[in-house]
Amino acid sequence: MHFELNEEHQLIRQTAKEFAKSLREGAIERDEKAIFPFSHVKEMGELGFMGMMVEERYAGAGMDTLAYVIAIEEISKVDASAGVIMSAHNSLVLYGLQAFGTDAQKEKYLKPLASGEKLGAFALSEPEAGSDATSQHTTAQDQGDHYLVNGTKNWITNGGNADIYLVIAQTHPEQGHRGINALIVGKGMDGFTIGPKENKLGIRSSDTHSLLFSDVKVPRENRIGEDGFGFKFAMKTLDGGRIGIAAQALGIAAGAYELALAYSKERKTFGKAICEHQAIQFKLADMEMEIEAARLLTYKAAWLKDQGKPYAKEAAMAKLYASEVAMKTTVEAVQIHGGYGYVKEYHVERMMRDAKITQIYEGTSEIQRLVIARDILK
Ligand code: CAA
Ligand code: FAD
Repeated sequence: MHFELNEEHQLIRQTAKEFAKSLREGAIERDEKAIFPFSHVKEMGELGFMGMMVEERYAGAGMDTLAYVIAIEEISKVDASAGVIMSAHNSLVLYGLQAFGTDAQKEKYLKPLASGEKLGAFALSEPEAGSDATSQHTTAQDQGDHYLVNGTKNWITNGGNADIYLVIAQTHPEQGHRGINALIVGKGMDGFTIGPKENKLGIRSSDTHSLLFSDVKVPRENRIGEDGFGFKFAMKTLDGGRIGIAAQALGIAAGAYELALAYSKERKTFGKAICEHQAIQFKLADMEMEIEAARLLTYKAAWLKDQGKPYAKEAAMAKLYASEVAMKTTVEAVQIHGGYGYVKEYHVERMMRDAKITQIYEGTSEIQRLVIARDILK
């Protein structure tokens, strides 16, 4: 067993850390005014972060999942909105296209996405189909050379700024989840409109929208995989996505901890730094331990994926644990900052708001427990 990162992984951490410094400035304003970080996303593309695990022949950086996780961790330490923009794009859109797309689909869609020229979104959830994802109401009627798509998708990350959308829809209702398809939909297709931006608690600088489809004609060649593969496609893609969100949660926790640790050495009460009070030391000790445990689970899930071994349960465990650590750590980071933690300048209140979503999207904590339990009991 090796617990040391190799040179390439160390270099990725360094590069991501350097880049993340530029995210600190303006993070409070982007959060307050819900401004999408366009220039940062462009730079992430130039650095290869928007196509990390895609083969070089499709304009990707050809790196492994561990490198990807390290980059998301470092970026989310500073700005979890940038973390989720990157995660949804890389793990949900690029992974799905690379693993299951045809050569023609990869040439046409994967290349501009992996180079960072275009942004992707993944649309599974609906107003009445979140956790219960098989219950798709959006339909993709088979019309021979095209599908006719009708319905509404909800809560779609990158929804307003994406160019390419992977949309899950029901073609054969009588076949249940085995009748679902995954389709590539381009922005601007007739009948495809973007709903208003959601006004969120956290990750406010990432954009979340509903998507509306009214008789949208999607060419048959835009279907991913065999007829009826769409639900399996979504589930397999989400297995990897959950590693990305685990890394985002890990980053939020580690970022808040670093701020709290530094603050605890500066702030004095009763004639000494607050880190000299045992009550604060115990908080710091728990944070350090839990973050390390979350990191080990996340890196292990990434490693399993890179080894071509099963990783669905480990991805769910990493996502579940890291998200709970993110929530607990950020609450404690605010506590360590006292009143200063409750105002915007110190960043930790934003991190606390950002942490909450990691327990909800890409499968709630309850759904992760369900996935883990089913795996144990199968
Ligand atoms: N890999 C491959 N196939 C899988 C699978 C996996 N990990 N998990 C399930 N399946 C298959 C099953 O084998 C089954 O197919 P067969 O009948 O052909 O064998 C089919 O999918 C249905 O599975 P279940 O019978 O287990 O279905 P269920 O309804 O009981 O439970 C669920 C499914 C696990 C709860 C699933 O609906 C789920 O994961 N829900 C959460 C949805 C989710 O995570 N949404 C995230 C949206 S994206 C997002 O949030 C992005 C973002 O924020 C940035
Ligand atoms: P529900 O499924 O209605 O769940 C409500 C509550 O009931 C939860 O606590 C849940 O855990 C619990 N519950 C439900 N079923 C069970 C059960 N069987 N056992 C125990 N408890 C249960 N979706 C996309 O497709 N693409 C995206 O890019 C995307 N981005 C998102 C970004 C944001 C900011 C948000 C808020 C959501 C995003 N989502 C996205 C949707 C997200 O994945 C869903 O919100 C999530 O899966 C939960 O679904 P729901 O909101 O319908 O809650």
